[in-house]
Amino acid sequence: MTENSTQAMKITNNFKCPRCGTIGTYDGLPGEPRMVTCASCGLNGRVTIAKGTISTNSTNGNAIEIAHLKKAFGDFTAVDDVSFSVKKGEIFGLLGPNGAGKSTIIRMLCTLSTPTGGSATVAGYDIKKQDNKVREHIGLVSEKMIMYDELTARENLKLFGKLYNLPDHNLNKRIDELLNLVRMEKWADQRIKTFSTGMKQRINVIRALVNQPEILFLDEPTLGLDPQSTAEIRELIRRINVENGTTIILTTHIMGEADMLCKRIGIIDHGKIVALDTSANLKKLVSGTDNSAFQIEVSNLEPRMMSSLQSLGFVKSLVQEDPTHLIIRTNGNDAFDKIIDNLRTNDAKVMMMKNLEPSLEDVFLHLTGREAREKVSENPVSSGPRHGPGRRRRVARVR
Ligand SMILES: Nc1ncnc2c1ncn2[C@@H]1O[C@H](COP(=O)(O)OP(=O)(O)O)[C@@H](O)[C@H]1O
Ligand SMILES: [Mg+2]
Repeated sequence: MTENSTQAMKITNNFKCPRCGTIGTYDGLPGEPRMVTCASCGLNGRVTIAKGTISTNSTNGNAIEIAHLKKAFGDFTAVDDVSFSVKKGEIFGLLGPNGAGKSTIIRMLCTLSTPTGGSATVAGYDIKKQDNKVREHIGLVSEKMIMYDELTARENLKLFGKLYNLPDHNLNKRIDELLNLVRMEKWADQRIKTFSTGMKQRINVIRALVNQPEILFLDEPTLGLDPQSTAEIRELIRRINVENGTTIILTTHIMGEADMLCKRIGIIDHGKIVALDTSANLKKLVSGTDNSAFQIEVSNLEPRMMSSLQSLGFVKSLVQEDPTHLIIRTNGNDAFDKIIDNLRTNDAKVMMMKNLEPSLEDVFLHLTGREAREKVSENPVSSGPRHGPGRRRRVARVR
């Protein structure tokens, strides 16, 4: 990281230990020789920051900087003028529906695809001009699992470690650490083909950590996993970030996943970033509008009651969660009172009605006029963001 590369100020730079591959940091002035000690194996070494060079691995505390990035496939623009930065050490979420352009951005940042416009630096290196340097500093878990079924977990990890020219001793130690991280030491010498999808994905994630990357790209890492494996992978992502300080850029189409894991979230739709902020700030975009969501419990819920609610003009979507619970999204004043009136007219026994906090789903709907998930109700969703007086938070429990 360069705090200021033009003045005689200290530069914080990365040091990759030639013996064990551990990455440490050291400060110094340009031209100043420094002794550094590897925190992992204790190796001492001398480094000099060249005068006038920007011997950096990121700028302004950012691990990734993207400016006007673009990718066109013929006439079709998959990524359209995307600019954002990812801070060192954060988990950054790229959230959007299928086809939004998430994987295309990841592929460009990982130097697997060439941008047709704009620029980006990853770990301080230009993705077009310094692609080898970029690759040294990153790990990628792509949408497709890269694993050899006939090889054991350890053999798979070793194979990828060899690509980074890690000496055998260090590589074996690193593999043991990684297997321990995912609590899979027992299965180290079993063939991958005998593993469940969740176990395979755990090995697939640590495979991307063999070279101790500063930045880890995870493209839809929980796609196709059962709930328990999904929870394990999410927990692993948190641990990698907290324990190793690894910067993580995660793509997902699952709003809740981005909400629970990511410090900041960029919402992407049709190749464009439509909003970027913390989850809490994104939700504030919806508060202060007429958009609301309610959870309602009706003990004698019947289809005719739901049809009657759906016919109300301000009801945008209605989802039945279970035999007695509904989630209704609305746009308009006094929705709370009007829903209660409608239900009572239909002899519904309303046990509870709660005004829900906005979710990222509401944010997406507010920004794009569309649901991010599959269609959830028969009612068409009205288009475009809306503005209006602040929404009220009310809970009614009728016994
Ligand atoms: N190699 C390609 N050639 C043509 N179109 C592509 C190619 N790769 C991706 N696309 C298109 O670009 C859009 C974005 O794709 P992608 O980045 O994979 O979306 P996401 O990961 O958000 O689901 C999609 O419409 C997809 O069909
Ligand atoms: Mg994708």
